[in-house]
Amino acid sequence: MDYTGKTALITGASSGIGECFAHELAIRGMNLVLVARSEDKLQSLAKQLYQQHRIQVTVITADLSREGEGLRVYKETQARQLNIDILINNAGFSTNGMFEAIPPEQDHQQVMLNVVSIVDLTHAFIPTMLAKGEGVIINIGSTTSFYSLPRQAVYAATKAFVLSFSEALWMEYKKRGIKVLALCPGATDTNFFDAMGRDVVAGKHSPQQVVRIGLRALEQGRHYVIPGFRNSFESNILPRLLPRAVMATLVESVSRRAFK
Ligand SMILES: NC(=O)c1ccc[n+]([C@@H]2O[C@H](COP(=O)([O-])OP(=O)(O)OC[C@H]3O[C@@H](n4cnc5c(N)ncnc54)[C@H](OP(=O)(O)O)[C@@H]3O)[C@@H](O)[C@H]2O)c1
Repeated sequence: MDYTGKTALITGASSGIGECFAHELAIRGMNLVLVARSEDKLQSLAKQLYQQHRIQVTVITADLSREGEGLRVYKETQARQLNIDILINNAGFSTNGMFEAIPPEQDHQQVMLNVVSIVDLTHAFIPTMLAKGEGVIINIGSTTSFYSLPRQAVYAATKAFVLSFSEALWMEYKKRGIKVLALCPGATDTNFFDAMGRDVVAGKHSPQQVVRIGLRALEQGRHYVIPGFRNSFESNILPRLLPRAVMATLVESVSRRAFK
C-alpha cells in the first residue's frame, strides 16, 4: 500500500493502540487527524509527530460517546478541507463487573462509543471513499468479538458487533475499492485496563505488535486478524469446536483466573 501523502483519521489517538497507529502511519508518511477527548495529549502528540516526520497533523477533540459527535467530527474535517483516506475506528472502553452493578449510564456510553460512533463515522466518510473508488476502514474489535464474556457482557457484545459489521462491509465494498479490516487484539499493554479498573496477570502484546500485525493484514487484503497464535486459537478455533454453553463456561473460568 502507498500511504505517503494520504490522510488517516484515528479515533482514540491520545493513548494505546490509537497513539501507536499514529506513530506507525506517520513513519509511513501519512498526514493525520487525531481524535479523542484529551486535548493536551493530542496536541503534544501532534507536535511530536510534526517535528519527527514533517507531516500535517490536525487535532479534533470530541467525546464520541455523545450523540452526534461523529457527524460533528466529519463536519470539522470538511471545514478544514481534509480528505480522509483511512478511517481508524479505535476509541473504545470496557466496563467491568456483574451487570446489575454497572451504572446504566456507563453501559449506555459504552454502546454509544464502541458501536454507534463507529456506524456514524463510517456513514459520514464512506461516500467520499466510494466516489474516489478507494479507501480503508479499520475497526478495532477484540478477541471477545468471537465469544461472550461474563463481567464484560456489554463490552463483548459491542465487539461482536464490530466484527459482524466489518465483515459485512468488507463483502459489500471489496469490489468497489474499499478495504475493511477488523483488528481483533487480545490483552494489549495500554491504559485500557486502568480505565477498566482491573488488570490481567500476564501475556499482553505491545500496542506496536498489534498495530504492525493489523497493517500487514490490511496489506494482505484480509478482513479480520487476531494478533498472536494463542489468541487466534482461543477465539477462532475453540468456539467452532465447542458447544456455546461449554465455551461460555470455559471463558468464565479462564477470565476469572486471568485477572489480578
Ligand atoms: N488493551 C487491550 O487489551 C485491548 C484488547 C482488545 C481490544 N482493545 C480495543 O482497542 C481500542 C483502543 O484501546 P486501548 O487498548 O488503546 O486503550 P486506551 O489506551 O485506554 O485508549 C483508549 C482511547 O480511546 C479514547 N476514548 C475513550 N473514550 C472516548 C470517548 N468518549 N470519546 C473519544 N475518545 C475516547 C481515549 O482517549 P481520551 O481518554 O483522551 O478520550 C484513548 O485515546 C479499544 O476499542 C479497545 O476496546 C483493547
